[in-house]
Amino acid sequence: MIGENVIRVPIIGSTNDFLKENWQAFPHGTVVVADVQTAGRGRFNRLWHSPEGGLWFSILFKPKKRVRPNFYTKLCAISIVRALKRMKIDAKLKWPNDVYVDGKKLAGILTETVFEEEQIRAVIVGIGLNVNNEIPQELKAKATSLKILAGEEFEKLSIMVLILKQINKALKVYSKKPEALTRVWKNMLIQKEGQMIVFKAANGLLKGKLVKIGEESLTLSTGNGLVELSSLEIVDE
Ligand code: BTN
Repeated sequence: MIGENVIRVPIIGSTNDFLKENWQAFPHGTVVVADVQTAGRGRFNRLWHSPEGGLWFSILFKPKKRVRPNFYTKLCAISIVRALKRMKIDAKLKWPNDVYVDGKKLAGILTETVFEEEQIRAVIVGIGLNVNNEIPQELKAKATSLKILAGEEFEKLSIMVLILKQINKALKVYSKKPEALTRVWKNMLIQKEGQMIVFKAANGLLKGKLVKIGEESLTLSTGNGLVELSSLEIVDE
């Protein structure tokens, strides 16, 4: 079971790095949670601000069968949204897996994979959720916390337990039907097929019609024809 083995540390570089370096020593489902991360990382190798008060944890999956790492990312993303729903917080996903409430980012997910002899040995899903932590001034327009949303402080570990419970439930339901997970995940996305979106690409900001939301990529129709992008940043809807 996910979360049967929980390691809590007061301070660490990054819970993802810890599990990436020590995955062999721990069983499938191990969770590492830290009060503070000194080198928290986000997607695109960005710094992830991880002070006291936030929920910073990573889950170690050791798949027995061939699986797409993306399966676990989606599984965790929908489980966060479902756990928040139980807390009466209406969250959505911004493609691919950012958790948004009222147009601001509440949580992010960083999935990393350990390969050995071309086989996936471990998938580490790191979750960062702003709970009672302060949001730095420069991020206040873009990010939010549960404390800001609800006007009160939360017991962050009980939120983690709620999320883990949803993950275990979802694992049971979707392990044999990943396409059903994709459907649930798609329904939770803010972006919908047919919408015009503005996105940041290598050559600057581009506007396009979202033609297809794929498992791991978006297909957009731009002035230059169809483009399929797997790692882009949508900056606006
Ligand atoms: C993102 O939205 O860019 C992903 C952020 C993921 C942050 C979490 S916090 C716990 C885990 N440890 C890390 O260093 N990163 C992830």
